[in-house]
Amino acid sequence: MTSNRIAYTGFVAFVSVVLTLVVVNLVQGNPEPTAGGTAENANGESVFRLDDVAEHNHAGSCWKVIDGVVYDLTEYLPNHPTEEEVFTRWCGKEATSAWLDKGNGRPHSPRAAARLEDYRIGVLEGGAPAPAPVETADSATQPATGDDRLGRMLLGLAPGNYLDGTYRGNFIDRGLIQVSLQFRLEGGRIKGMSYRHLFYRDEDYLKMDSSAELYPVLRQYQQITERLEGEPMEAIFRLYEPENVVDDIDGYTGATLRGAKVISAFRDGLNRGVYSW
Ligand code: HEM
Repeated sequence: MTSNRIAYTGFVAFVSVVLTLVVVNLVQGNPEPTAGGTAENANGESVFRLDDVAEHNHAGSCWKVIDGVVYDLTEYLPNHPTEEEVFTRWCGKEATSAWLDKGNGRPHSPRAAARLEDYRIGVLEGGAPAPAPVETADSATQPATGDDRLGRMLLGLAPGNYLDGTYRGNFIDRGLIQVSLQFRLEGGRIKGMSYRHLFYRDEDYLKMDSSAELYPVLRQYQQITERLEGEPMEAIFRLYEPENVVDDIDGYTGATLRGAKVISAFRDGLNRGVYSW
């Protein structure tokens, strides 16, 4: 009888502890991921640790972290256009720098970026770590000058070597400025991009009101700045296919919106160098 009672009390105590843990968990929304990465963030996405990712470090199960997002690329692997080893070397790792520089200083194309999305399985706990800087041949030969900004400027704009600051650039065609824009770079990311001038065929887009026929095009130009906010600067190349960046592209607006003009103005800004620090 007594032992039954003890067993019963023990059972009740066990159930209460389990229930308390469940309730506390529910109330706190427990953001701590388990070893298997089963925690979810507010968007319902799985949250993984680098340790979880590190277990998938071979061709049979290949996960990579790019810009704070975790991808299971096992099924994509046979389609990658390089020798397998180039791709598998980064399995189980933080691979943003390899993604942003294919080895020739160039990032992957928007087409590749579009594929990547199909393999997204979650995000990294704590967001994106700073990508490892890409080594450049010049980085070992920084000129000895009192001002680091001048030294880095003289090295040009190699990946991982851009100067933070405010930039201004223009796209000019047949003597007329069509696009003039301003943006800041902070840690290689685009911030606060805005148009200072947007003009095409006698239309001053920045003065248009919402009843204007071309107003949807102005909205799309504005969406470009909204969607590039906080993105790595290579994201600008997505604009070669603006339909991947802005909404409601149709034959009419698509023909008028020219992502290439924005890319050109952006690069003009980079080529001119920092406008203000
Ligand atoms: C993170 C490690 C990766 C490395 C080191 C890497 C490396 C490379 C290299 C060296 C090339 C150039 C091949 C050539 O021109 O012959 C390339 C091209 C390409 N890669 Fe990757 N890659 C990586 C990840 C990925 C991922 C995750 C995807 C897509 C899910 C991808 C998709 C592509 C595509 C579509 C191309 C063709 C060129 C382009 O569209 O940019 N790669 N990659």
